Amino acid sequence: MEKSICLLRGDGIGPEILEQGILVLKEVAARKGHTFHFMDALIGGSAIDSCGEPLPEETIAACKASDAVYLAAVGGPKWDTLAPEKRPERGLLGIRKALGLFANLRPAVLFPELAGACLLRSDIAARGLDLIVVRELTGDIYFGEPRGIEVRDGSRVGFNTMLYSEEEIRRIAVVAFETALKRRRKVCSVEKSNVLETSRLWKEMVIDVHKDYQDVELSHLYVDNAAMQLVRDPSQFDVIVTGNIFGDILSDEASVITGSLGMLPSASMGSKGPGLFEPIHGSAPDIAGKDIANPLATILSAAMMLRLGLGMPDEADMIEDAVRKTLRDGLRTPDIMEEGARRIGCSEMGQSVCERL
Ligand code: IPM
Ligand code: MG
Repeated sequence: MEKSICLLRGDGIGPEILEQGILVLKEVAARKGHTFHFMDALIGGSAIDSCGEPLPEETIAACKASDAVYLAAVGGPKWDTLAPEKRPERGLLGIRKALGLFANLRPAVLFPELAGACLLRSDIAARGLDLIVVRELTGDIYFGEPRGIEVRDGSRVGFNTMLYSEEEIRRIAVVAFETALKRRRKVCSVEKSNVLETSRLWKEMVIDVHKDYQDVELSHLYVDNAAMQLVRDPSQFDVIVTGNIFGDILSDEASVITGSLGMLPSASMGSKGPGLFEPIHGSAPDIAGKDIANPLATILSAAMMLRLGLGMPDEADMIEDAVRKTLRDGLRTPDIMEEGARRIGCSEMGQSVCERL
């Protein structure tokens, strides 16, 4: 197969971790007889530095013209004092919106090889942790209008609008149920319908969509309870479906309790056009350029890209198997280092995965 992949290297550790992902993709292509055409585009702080805005028009065009978008991470202290609409994060939010990537899939898995890194008590960890957060990504309080800061009765107020249409809820619910069909057939819908109208509509719509998925077990949790259940017993979850802001928070929680934030990939999909694949972690400016960052989340994002974005499931398995072998062979970047393992850097980790493909 011949596919084009748009590369968004971004900021901080972004360029070095994406480089390793690209090497793995090239190795997969060579072994399986595929051709990947890579093209670079700017996003985030590096785009601000070179053309004054976090998401140049050319970047949107380059992404739209590709079969998949491969992103590392954006942001850093250098741009932290900019106004919200000029910050690197706007590049990320902008590309999600521009490509219509409404479904964000964030798996949180406890790798048996890394069980020691799990933050939970060992009897809880022993029950396992293998869930996926299906987060709505282009609506909610992130994008709802009106928004702003203005003077009311002589003092300033800040306001945002939590807003979901029936159709936005329906399509993300469909993604959640379809995802569950390929897993353990359980969906937990998370909202705050005891307080918020948006959430009442959310729950109503999810129940409605569920009528077409009677083989899937549906449960509901308020977001505060869900946050608690995630640390109390994450093994109860298979698919969690939730809105943009709750999904932002819960996916960080779910991923960090695995103890391996540097291991977790994500996929953002629309109803048509290219998907976007990126590690769940940020740009970690404090360790940038030191060749110590963990490239595995980025490499595993390439596997998600092959499986969900480019229709190459066997090649995706190949990458995931190679990552598992690398861990089994005791190779570790500093963030997942443990006794008895061999400590290696970012580029050696990428190389080690390539050798095990
Ligand atoms: C994420 C991030 C982004 C978000 C930020 C960087 C805008 O936290 O992808 O989860 O809030 O969606
Ligand atoms: Mg987040």
